[in-house]
Amino acid sequence: MNNPKLQAVRGMNDILPDEAQLWLWFEDTVRNWLEGYGYRNIRMPLVEPTALFKRAIGEVTDIVEKEMYSFTDELNGDELTLRPEGTASCVRAVLQHNLLYNAPQRLYYSGPMFRHERPQKGRYRQFHQVGVEALGFAGPDIDAEQIVMCARLWKELGIRDVTLQINTLGDASSRHRHREKLIAYFERYADQLDADAQRRLHSNPLRILDSKNPAMQDIIAGAPRLMDELDAEAVEHFDAVQAILKSRGIPFEINPRLVRGLDYYNRTVFEWVTTRLGAQGTICAGGRYDGLIEQIGGKPQPACGFAMGVERLLALIQEDGMQNPPAGLDVYVVHQGEQARDMAWRVAELLRDDGLRVLLHCGGGGFKSQMKKADGSTAVCAAIIGDDEAAANVVMLKPLRVQAEQQRVDLADIRQKIRELIK
Ligand code: HAM
Repeated sequence: MNNPKLQAVRGMNDILPDEAQLWLWFEDTVRNWLEGYGYRNIRMPLVEPTALFKRAIGEVTDIVEKEMYSFTDELNGDELTLRPEGTASCVRAVLQHNLLYNAPQRLYYSGPMFRHERPQKGRYRQFHQVGVEALGFAGPDIDAEQIVMCARLWKELGIRDVTLQINTLGDASSRHRHREKLIAYFERYADQLDADAQRRLHSNPLRILDSKNPAMQDIIAGAPRLMDELDAEAVEHFDAVQAILKSRGIPFEINPRLVRGLDYYNRTVFEWVTTRLGAQGTICAGGRYDGLIEQIGGKPQPACGFAMGVERLLALIQEDGMQNPPAGLDVYVVHQGEQARDMAWRVAELLRDDGLRVLLHCGGGGFKSQMKKADGSTAVCAAIIGDDEAAANVVMLKPLRVQAEQQRVDLADIRQKIRELIK
């Protein structure tokens, strides 16, 4: 029988070992950076009740209408969804475990998210986010701090050419006024709206502003602006965020058309954008979502957060010529003969006890072919053991990265000698 070739699902990528090194480096950098700002890790399931995302992200959004991997659990009939983002799950977890009981929370998570989008460079169906959420904070200082911390990360990652766009979406009352005006305005152009926009005209007119359809750009440009409807408190909040950004020397651009693709936002929203990744230029995005906690069933609490797209950030880093840092090995243990094999095992474990990274040759073969493998590895030196060495309790130590003779080393001195070599 001819077995069909099995391949990864379209839009879902394998991250192979060479590239995974870059991911590991990125994850280490990000973790140190987050800890530097007092954020603590939280881990949520990849699967949640579908109702959570409908309620949090909004029924009339691209994500909920067309992009969710939703299914019925055949065993019990539950309606479930592979998470398309992390904020809803994070808030659900915080409420379920009562984490906001007596203190605000600074939390972060990372991992895969799933959206059934059309795959292209920088846009995948399984992609990875690092998400950062501050729950229980009302003031503009936390919005500004989250933006400032992003700027620091770009510096630490060596990322250039990203610009910051910010906007305010105001509060519920101003959004309501704006919504009424938008509906009245777009109704006047109803025959020029595309099908998506027509459908959303009365359910979610704000989403029309997000449309990329070139034919509608003139109409969108003339639409009533939320800016003109803002309440005094929202204006004050936005001014305060800007003042902190200015005082920290973070350049930004106010983009009144920045509305975000998820419904839970209010007040500050922001996106970090690059022109170097083609159409998928947003590497990091977020904002304030003061209404979400209540919407998911908790006592009202303000909150603010953002998430970055790991694939996009890494693409940007690689564009700048950053090589994948090689997986480091200290010692490659070469051995031939039965006594030698026994000693090789002992030596390898002894060196690992000392914190060294050791590859013990497996699979047999002569000294010559094993030495070829040692040379081709990233090891700094080879520890060579034959039955003669085993009988004498010594190891031949050969530096692999510098021109130097191999030396005969007593087992008792081996750790010390290797430490000298890898310094
Ligand atoms: P989002 O704008 O939907 O926000 O996604 C955040 C980032 O994830 C995007 O800016 C982009 O870098 C990356 N991203 C999104 N979709 C894809 C995709 N299909 N392929 C590759 N990368 C992608 C959120 O998800 C919010 N939960 C952010 C947030 C946290 N707001 C408050 N807290």
